[in-house]
Amino acid sequence: MTDKATRHLLDIDSLDSDTVQSLLNRAGALAAGSAPSHLDMTVANLFFEPSTRTRVSFELAAQRLGMRVINIELDRSSSTKGESLTDTAATLAAMGVDCIVLRHPETGRCHKLASEVPAGLSLLNAGDGRGHHPSQALLDAATIAALGMSWSALDLSIVGDIRHSRVARSGLQLFRRLGIGRLRAAGPPDMMPDDMDLAGVEVCTTLDEALEDANAVMMLRIQRERMDKTGWPDSKHYHQEWGLTEARLASAAPGCRVLHPGPINRGVEIAADVADGPRSLILKQVRMGVFMRMAILEWLAGRHQAN
Ligand code: CP
Repeated sequence: MTDKATRHLLDIDSLDSDTVQSLLNRAGALAAGSAPSHLDMTVANLFFEPSTRTRVSFELAAQRLGMRVINIELDRSSSTKGESLTDTAATLAAMGVDCIVLRHPETGRCHKLASEVPAGLSLLNAGDGRGHHPSQALLDAATIAALGMSWSALDLSIVGDIRHSRVARSGLQLFRRLGIGRLRAAGPPDMMPDDMDLAGVEVCTTLDEALEDANAVMMLRIQRERMDKTGWPDSKHYHQEWGLTEARLASAAPGCRVLHPGPINRGVEIAADVADGPRSLILKQVRMGVFMRMAILEWLAGRHQAN
């Protein structure tokens, strides 16, 4: 990498507002057909948790920028022989890897690794436990920005398992920063967070309260992998109370758009006809994910960004 100060993308709050705006603008421009940069760099995908969208879109983004991409197969890597993540990162850096895209089940693991890696090796947080998922929040905002709606006109509700959701944490940080008109969060009491900053967020206790007049709603999957099995809710009951259906969308603003970071669980947090319906932005989010991750990789390399 040519940039002197090594950049990492760990969370939304560590990005300044100019960078946020530049990333949104650049992803939008790439989606509209702007020519991508060519980056003579190598990225390694290191995923300690399953992923379809994030891993594949970082890989496609890097390929479109002409980067070399290494997908580490963890079950065939030396992490199975006891190598620490810090040593794995240093080993990859010594081989010329410029950037690691890391997904890890431990909250805070990406931040910790950032304090340990050699200078010149960038880290992109692709989701750490209940912590942060900054590229998801940025692609969600870019998807909404592509609709042409002003931030002040956006009335967004984030609904479901907020407590265990890194998407919600990053999204709340980002949408609050963007100064959207109204921001609500709602979920069952045992899925509401006790460690998230909810300043400026209206907390609702029912789905209907969260939907009333909203012009965008983001549904969240129940993060069963982060729950004690005894705490798993019954899917049918959950759907009755908290599942988004066409009938329940009637109390939202006309044309209310529906987002979901995926993967979706049809018939649990969202009905299939809503997920597949005309209000759904779900596949637009997936598409924008590639462009946002291209913008992020360009930013890491010091291209096309405000600072
Ligand atoms: N939204 C998201 O992070 O999806 P994946 O787990 O498939 O990457």
